[in-house]
Amino acid sequence: MSKSLFRRKSISTILKDAREGATDGHGTGTLHRVLKVKDLTAMGIAAVIGAGIFSTIGEASFHGGPGVSILFVITAITCGFSALCYAEFASRVPVSGSAYTYSYVTFGELTAWIIGWSLILEYAIGNIAVAISWSGYFNNLLAGIGMGLPGWLTSNYDNASPETLAAAPHIAGLPVILNLPAFLVVVFITWLAYVGIQESKRSANAMVAFKILIIIFVIVLGAFYVNTDNWNPFLPNGFSGVLRGVSAVFFAYIGFDAVSTTAEECTNPQRDLPRGMFYSLIICTVLYVLIALVLTGMVPFTDLKVADPLAFVFDAVNLRWISYIISISAVIATTSVLLVFQIGQPRIWMSMSRDGLLPGRFSRIHPRFKTPSFATIVTGILVGVPALFLNLTIVTDLTSIGTLFAFILVCGGVLLLPREENNGNTSRFRLPYINGQWIVPALVVLGIFLFRAPLGEKLSFAGGWEVWKHNIPFFFFTIVVIVITVLSFLRKLSLIPVLGLLSCFYLMTEMGLKNWIVFAVWLLTGLVIYFGYSYRNSKLNAAN
Ligand code: ALA
Repeated sequence: MSKSLFRRKSISTILKDAREGATDGHGTGTLHRVLKVKDLTAMGIAAVIGAGIFSTIGEASFHGGPGVSILFVITAITCGFSALCYAEFASRVPVSGSAYTYSYVTFGELTAWIIGWSLILEYAIGNIAVAISWSGYFNNLLAGIGMGLPGWLTSNYDNASPETLAAAPHIAGLPVILNLPAFLVVVFITWLAYVGIQESKRSANAMVAFKILIIIFVIVLGAFYVNTDNWNPFLPNGFSGVLRGVSAVFFAYIGFDAVSTTAEECTNPQRDLPRGMFYSLIICTVLYVLIALVLTGMVPFTDLKVADPLAFVFDAVNLRWISYIISISAVIATTSVLLVFQIGQPRIWMSMSRDGLLPGRFSRIHPRFKTPSFATIVTGILVGVPALFLNLTIVTDLTSIGTLFAFILVCGGVLLLPREENNGNTSRFRLPYINGQWIVPALVVLGIFLFRAPLGEKLSFAGGWEVWKHNIPFFFFTIVVIVITVLSFLRKLSLIPVLGLLSCFYLMTEMGLKNWIVFAVWLLTGLVIYFGYSYRNSKLNAAN
C-alpha cells in the first residue's frame, strides 16, 4: 500500500487526459482556449487586489506601523520565489489543476490529494473572507444613500454588538444574525462563473482597469496629505509588531497562482502563464508598498484598526466624497477576486475528478457553456453558506496558512523535477538553476548570526510549557532548515525553490499555534476522505 500512496501520473498522461477531456462518460468536451498574456495578467491582478488591501491592511498597520511596508516587500519576495516555481510547473504541465496537478507528477497521489485539499482553503475558504469584506463595503455604500441594511443582516455572531443582538428577530429564543449581502454576492458570482469563461474574462478585465485606476488615484492624492512625522518611528512596535501582520499581508498577495488553473483555457500556456503571474505580482507589489506608505503617512498608525482603512484615512482628512469612491472601488475589486477564485476552485476539482479522486460529476462540462457546471455549483454552496455566518479573521488566517502550505509543496516539487535545459527555446519558461550547495549553508549561518537574539528566545524553554508551546511551529521550521541545508550541500539543490520553501515555511511559523491546530484538523479530515473514497477510486489504482 505504501507504494501505491506515492503512485505518480506521468506528464504525458496528464497532457493526454486534458486533451481528451473526461473520457469516462462524465465529460462532454474540452474548455475554450481564449486567454492571452494580457488577460492572464488582468486575471492575476483581479485575484490579488481585494479584501487584503481594502480591509485587512488596517489591522496589520495598527500593529506594525509604517514598517508594514517592509513586510509587503518581504512577502512579495517570498511569493516571487513561489511564483517562479509555479511558472516552472505551469510551463512543464500546462493543464488545469494548479499545484494539485504539479504535485501529482512529482510527489505522487497522496501529496497531490493533500495539496488539492489545502487549495480548498485558498480558493473556497479565502472567498468566504472576500465575500465578508465585500459585504462590509457594500453596506457602507447603501448606508451612504440612506438605505443601510440592519446590523443583524450584515454581521455574524462573533462580531455582532449587544444592540444588534437585541434588535435581531429571534427564533426559538435565539437571535438570527446573517450576513445576507455576502451570501447574495456569492450566488451572483457563481452564476457568472457558470455561464462561461468568455463572459467572466470580460468582466474581470473591466474591473481590473477600474480598481488599478482608483488605487493609483488614492496613492497620488494621498501623497499630498502625508505627514512625514507619522513615519517616525518607522517600526513603533519593533519587527515583532510588523510580523503580527503576516497573515493579513500574505492574504493580500494570494491569487497570482490562481492564473495557473486556467492553463487549458490559454492560447499559449507555456509562454503566457509565467508572464501573467509575474506581471501581476510586480504590479501589485508596487501598488501595495505605496498604499502602505500613504496610509501610515496620512494618519497615526494607532488610528488604523478599522475594517475600511482606505476610506477611513480620507474621511480623516475631510475628503468624504473620496472615501465614497473608495467604497465603490472596494466593492468592484473584491467582486473581481470572488470571480477568479470562484472560477479556479471548480477547475481544481475537475482535475481531481478526472483522476478519480473525486466523483465523476465534478469533471462534467456543461455542453453549452463549456464550464465545469456541477463543480461550480458546489463551490457556490461551499462559499455562500458559511459566508452567512463566519467572521473575517478566522477565515483569513485559515486561508493564509493553507496557501503557504500549498506553496511549500510546489517549491518542494520543483526540487524533485528532473532538470531540463531550455535549448534556446525562448517560448518556454525555465527556472534559472543556481547551485545552492554553498549559498544555502552560507545564508543559514548569516541568518543565525543576524537573528541570534530572537532565535535564542524562541528555542529556549525558560518560560515553561505555556510559553514554549507557541514556538512549536518554529521548532519544526528549525528542523526543516537543518534538513534542507544538508540536502542542499549534498545534492546541490536549486537555490530559488529552496529559498521559496524556507521563506514560506517561516511565514507559516508566524501564524500562531491555534491556526496550526485548525489546519491540522482540516488535513486529517481530508485524509479520512482520501482513504475512505479516493484511494480506491483513483484511476491509478491497479484494481480499476
Ligand atoms: N488577495 C486577495 C484579496 O486580498 C485574496 O482579496
